[in-house]
Amino acid sequence: MSFEISALFRPKLPAPASARFKAFPTYNFVGGHNDAASIPVEALTAAAARVIAREGKSLATYGLNSGPQGYRPLREFIASWMAESADTHDSADEILITSGSLQALDLVNQLLVGPDDMVIAEEATYGGALTRLAKLGVPYLGVRLDDDGIDMSHLAELLESQKNAGQPVKFIYTIPTVQNPTGGVMPVKRRRHLLDLAARYNCLIFEDDCYADLVWSGIRPPTIRALDAEAAVAEGRSNRVIYCGSFSKSVAPALRIGFIMADWPVLAQILPLKTDAGTGALDQMVLAEFCKDQFPDHIARLRARLKSKCDMTIQALEEHFGTAAEFTAPLGGIFIWVTLPEGVDTKRLEVAALKEGIAINPGAEWTVDGSNNRRRMRLCFGNPEESEIRGGIARLAEICHREFGVPERISNIEQS
Ligand SMILES: Cc1ncc(COP(=O)(O)O)c(C=O)c1O
Repeated sequence: MSFEISALFRPKLPAPASARFKAFPTYNFVGGHNDAASIPVEALTAAAARVIAREGKSLATYGLNSGPQGYRPLREFIASWMAESADTHDSADEILITSGSLQALDLVNQLLVGPDDMVIAEEATYGGALTRLAKLGVPYLGVRLDDDGIDMSHLAELLESQKNAGQPVKFIYTIPTVQNPTGGVMPVKRRRHLLDLAARYNCLIFEDDCYADLVWSGIRPPTIRALDAEAAVAEGRSNRVIYCGSFSKSVAPALRIGFIMADWPVLAQILPLKTDAGTGALDQMVLAEFCKDQFPDHIARLRARLKSKCDMTIQALEEHFGTAAEFTAPLGGIFIWVTLPEGVDTKRLEVAALKEGIAINPGAEWTVDGSNNRRRMRLCFGNPEESEIRGGIARLAEICHREFGVPERISNIEQS
């Protein structure tokens, strides 16, 4: 009898991976990849040597003598950095190290929601958050955004109509500081307004903040979690914000180090859900050793480099797409959210561009209402080299012109 292994897989699995990895496309404007030249290779090498020589024997234990919340010196660094940079005063005990902030998303979803719940996400948001909710069968609604983030009157409408429909909202998922994909930063006043609405409708806020260290000005607003701290203490309740951060964008995505900041009742219930026996120990040790003296200088350099790539991308868009590409210059981060003229379908553009080695994120995958966002695309400028940015955008304009007739005219294409 022939043996068909896939016949034994359980039903309702996601679609299998379409192909094995071969190589990144030549012009890689997708994903959250970082700037290769900014990886602090020498400093990480030295940090690894130091910390392993000093503490390597603790690798003999699960959890590095720090318990299931993660390597204590790393949690202490995060606590001190959040206090210094974001006026957020949680201690190392309110931090759980996760395997990237993607694991934080999984854990928070597991803690809070199932198919009977309702979540509100920003109308344009991180595609990985939407696919996770969809996989769990959790319904979600999109709240309108403007340059300052969530439109509070629309949020109030949604919260009210959900309440009236007998399906109140469990949590609002927001990326307030360098929003993905718009690149905007929510001002403090709006953060407070968001907290007021969450309090009125008794829901939670899930604050996903992995780009916050990449605000060009180097000055980030206090976290929404910090803004709720005083009232939480005064009212003798838990903070209604669960916060997650990551070192993927500020140091390196391959490290897979993120974190959750939340009150103990939340962490105590998340810990049994984190069944991986701890996030990679060496990654945590090396990162903590590196960060304790070098993080501020490192991110200042990284920000300057990303800002210059951002400027270059904007220049290339203006040169090659002209007025056909509309966007608001991001306030930090690694991407630009572009709207193309009516009639352009960025899903089709993606397919055509990939054949020529250019990868883009089509807008439909980065929005709650995908079908109404087909003419948008997200371009990540973090990883491509300068010549690839210029060459890639020029070619993309040429392909878009060929497929959709926009931009109407093509400037002298720089082939590189
Ligand atoms: C908003 C947001 N959250 C979470 C993640 C996941 O990042 P990581 O798991 O690498 O920390 C990303 C990655 O791009 C993101 O953009």
